[in-house]
This record gives sequence, C-alpha cells and structure tokens, in this order.
Amino acid sequence: MSDRRPLLFFDSGVGGLSVLAPTTALLPRAPLVYVADSGGFPYGTKSETEIAARVPALLGRLAERYDPRLIVIACNTASTIALQHVRAALDLPIVGTVPAIKPAAAASRTRTIGVLGTAATVRQPYVDDLAARFAQDCTVLRHGSGRLVALAEAKLAGETVPLDAVSHELDGLFHQPGGERIDVIVNACTHFPLLEAEMRAVAPAGVAFVDGGPGIARRVAHLTQGQSWPEHLPPGHAVFTSHDPAHRRLAPTLATYGLSRLETL
Ligand code: DGL
Repeated sequence: MSDRRPLLFFDSGVGGLSVLAPTTALLPRAPLVYVADSGGFPYGTKSETEIAARVPALLGRLAERYDPRLIVIACNTASTIALQHVRAALDLPIVGTVPAIKPAAAASRTRTIGVLGTAATVRQPYVDDLAARFAQDCTVLRHGSGRLVALAEAKLAGETVPLDAVSHELDGLFHQPGGERIDVIVNACTHFPLLEAEMRAVAPAGVAFVDGGPGIARRVAHLTQGQSWPEHLPPGHAVFTSHDPAHRRLAPTLATYGLSRLETL
C-alpha cells in the first residue's frame, strides 16, 4: 500500500521554498503541500503573543485538511516563538527551522558571525540560547530586516532586486562595532537564502552564508525513512491563506518547485 500523505511546509510567504527545495532534492517522490500564511504576512513585525496564538491554531486546521505525515515549520520566526506550542497541540512529527548558529560557529575563522533574521527572530531568547550553547567563543552580531523579506517576495514574483537595497541591509551587520570581522552570515530567515546570489554579489569577498535548509532536509529524510510514497506523484499544492490576485504572479516560480496547483483557504 502506498502512503499518499504529503509533507506540509509552512511559512508566512515564499521563504519556506528555501527549505522545500533541499528536501525535495533528497525525497523527489514526496507529495507536497506548501502553505504561505499570506493572511498573516509578514510575521517578523508581529508580537510573540500574536505568533504564538496564530501559528498553532492555523497548523491545527491545516493538519485536519491535508492529513500530512509530517509538518515542516519552514520559518524561523514561527519556529523560535511557537515550535513548542505546535508540538504540544498536534500529534504528528513537527520539524522546526531555527538559526543555523552551530554550523556557522564551526565554520568561522574570525570567531565573529552575523545573524540576519527578522526583527522578531533576532530578539528571541532561543537565539541567545543557541549562541551560548554553540558559539560561546564567538562574537554573535544580529540584525533584523523586514526589507529583505519583501525583496525575496518581489524576486519570486518576477521583479528585479536592487543590489543597493540588499547591500544596505547587510550594512546593518557589517557597520556594527566589530562587524568588519564577520566571516559567516547565518541566514536566519527562510526568505533570505532566496536572495543569496544578490547577497554574495555585494558582501565582502570570503564571507560565507549558511542556513538551516540542508539540515532540515536530512532530518525529514531521516524521519520518513522506510515510509512508502505514491507511485505517481500528484501535483504539489501551493496554498495561500488570503485571497489576492497578485499571488498568481508567483505561479511560474511555484511550478518550478513542483507546486502547480494554487489554492486559497
Ligand atoms: N520566512 C520567515 C522566517 O523565516 C519570516 C518572514 C516574515 O514573514 O517576516 O522568519
């Protein structure tokens, strides 16, 4: 008997595609549901209370509707605030996305790393905890950027990204005291790896970028080891939680990720 239950990826917008892509590279036969909580976008400017109330309730509804075998919260903001609440509320495996501070600290030669996330993520105690556990001998500088989130959404809708705007956001890290020593940047928002080419074009030579995507892909592959997949892969669903005709502009990009059915909740 083949198991038709999908993997469900969840983010506020298109950022989670940076987690979906390495996962489908490892698991090409996995049926997919990708949910962008467009009705709650952006998360990075919301309060902890709002995120902690919204995300578990919405994931509960989504779990009922799509019957996933596993949920990936492909959003650092939602994971660092609400992961425990979601795990407590739902009886299925939940994989979160948290800032990749551990691999960044392992790679840094200057012992100075930059954490680039949303404003909500970079102020989380979860990040203090990761820095204390895995980067205690590093200087960990942080910067919250909502602009990069908007630029990633625009890029995937087909717009050109102005490099000076990307450069200005990176200055938020490099212009802090000691920032010139940063040699590894943690993309601690899932939208940001979607702009990695633009970031590399404007960052000082030799700066490396890390994100949680590859680690999450390995974790999902491990958790689904031995499970069966459908013989014929059904078209992936891209689900939006609000109606906006502008979402149609994302259709060509979503199709390249295997998400050819667009739905609105
Ligand atoms: N992609 C999300 C993250 O990883 C948040 C973007 C937003 O809605 O502000 O944090």
